[in-house]
Amino acid sequence: MKKVFSLLAGIFALGAINASAQIKETPLPELVQENGHFSLIVDGSPYLILGGQCGNSSNWPATLDGVWHTMKEMNANTLEIPVYWEEIERVRGQYDFTSVQRLLDQAREQDLRLILLWFATWKNGSNHYMPEWMKLDSKTFYNVTSKDGRPIDSPSPHVSEAMDLDAKAFAALMRYLKENDPCHTVIMVQVENEPGTWDSVRDYGKTAEKLFNKDVPAALMKPEILKELGADPKAKRGSWSEVFGERADEYFHAWSVASYINNVAEAGQKVNPLPMYVNAALRDPITNPMADQYESGGPTDNVICIYKAAAPAICLCAPDIYQSGDEKYTASIKLYDRKDNALMVPESSNVNLYLYEVLSRGLGFAPFGVDGRVNAQTPISLDYAILAPAASQIAKWRTEGRLFSAFENESHDSEEIDLGSWKALLTFSPGHRGTAPAKGTKGIPSVGKVMMVKLAEDEFYAFGNNVHFTFEPLGKNVGKAWHYLVVEEGHFEEGEFVRDRILNGDQTDWGGPTISSQPQVLHIKLYSRTPIK
Ligand code: DGJ
Repeated sequence: MKKVFSLLAGIFALGAINASAQIKETPLPELVQENGHFSLIVDGSPYLILGGQCGNSSNWPATLDGVWHTMKEMNANTLEIPVYWEEIERVRGQYDFTSVQRLLDQAREQDLRLILLWFATWKNGSNHYMPEWMKLDSKTFYNVTSKDGRPIDSPSPHVSEAMDLDAKAFAALMRYLKENDPCHTVIMVQVENEPGTWDSVRDYGKTAEKLFNKDVPAALMKPEILKELGADPKAKRGSWSEVFGERADEYFHAWSVASYINNVAEAGQKVNPLPMYVNAALRDPITNPMADQYESGGPTDNVICIYKAAAPAICLCAPDIYQSGDEKYTASIKLYDRKDNALMVPESSNVNLYLYEVLSRGLGFAPFGVDGRVNAQTPISLDYAILAPAASQIAKWRTEGRLFSAFENESHDSEEIDLGSWKALLTFSPGHRGTAPAKGTKGIPSVGKVMMVKLAEDEFYAFGNNVHFTFEPLGKNVGKAWHYLVVEEGHFEEGEFVRDRILNGDQTDWGGPTISSQPQVLHIKLYSRTPIK
């Protein structure tokens, strides 16, 4: 019996080798940092995530067709999609990767890359994606207890048996990918989803209390970390309360959740070191609120340094930006664009207004719930259409510091960009935010925005919509007469700019060119003349 089984297993294994032998093996995706700029390398080149995230319950045969359809209509290159622990480990210790293989097969057919979201111990702070057999054993896999003894709908980060099970299942997933995804259809993995706890700043159960009264771990007792956390940078040791005072509870919870996640991610990294990240339910980026006003324990902006210290297996902390208002949205972008953290926005409520703010600083962007609310009529498909054929170049230009962006602000409709020898003066038309639907967009407003690429001192590309350009000499050009050498309107094909027409006469004589509500790419060359004395 044993022999037959191994013979059969051998035949199946051979089949698997043959099947995957047809798939070209590519280098492992990685996050690199060069000259202070982060870059996601896929297939050996910089990669720009023009993404979309589907709904939470969309990774099912009944819904996947709709997801692929939306992604195509969006002109996106990367789908962010959950894989469910409750489905993968329905029986303890037995892993079923049918849903993963289906994704790999269908994504390859669609020529899309995937970012898998590991919905496991935490999903929006709760344990709702733990397998049923864990949920039913709430004594072993217990939840957080609040300060006043209430049971909270959030798993305790101090349950080592849950952590080990999560780590084992995650490692099995990563092994499955290693064996079945040699071409790296999956380019990144999100470990957990918006981890942390709503409704209690930390766990106040017995185990948690013991740990809380111990000394702060040495990894946090470093002057730069203590300073960032608002503690005495010279402190040498002490309990959480002694070192961090009124912030002790939230920092302790962040450390506990991050350490748990690191354990899970590390188990996966050992098998298959794909880039792994965590995502945050944000707190107000301006008012520095206490943790009773946000999801405590997740990678919020105030504890990124704790995540860096506790979770080295995680390559970046990413903001899910659902905040409304220019000030809050852009503040969150800046808080996660750090020397030690690459910016990536894996979820956004606003479909495209801040697209260039994110792409000029980060690895990529994805609006959330695209299969529910995005279709070809929404402006982002028009934006992605002009960006997609230039994606790798844009990713490279960013790492070279060549990208600059601006958008039609709530309070003003003009912006300036300092480009060294020239100042770009941008007026967003029609000047009333949100009143100009792009062509063919069923009345959905498309707000003015622009991303400029500085190719040389006097030469630029501009991606944008609803914007009028003019320029002012700066630096070496100050005091000189200037004009356009040439303005070309065009598009990209496989990374090369292709001219459709030259804009001249009425199209440039009123100060400069205009891009209408239809997103376009311009190639602009300027020149200056020394005044004759
Ligand atoms: C943020 C979560 O990360 C998503 O999975 C989803 O639940 C959205 N919130 C809902 O808007």
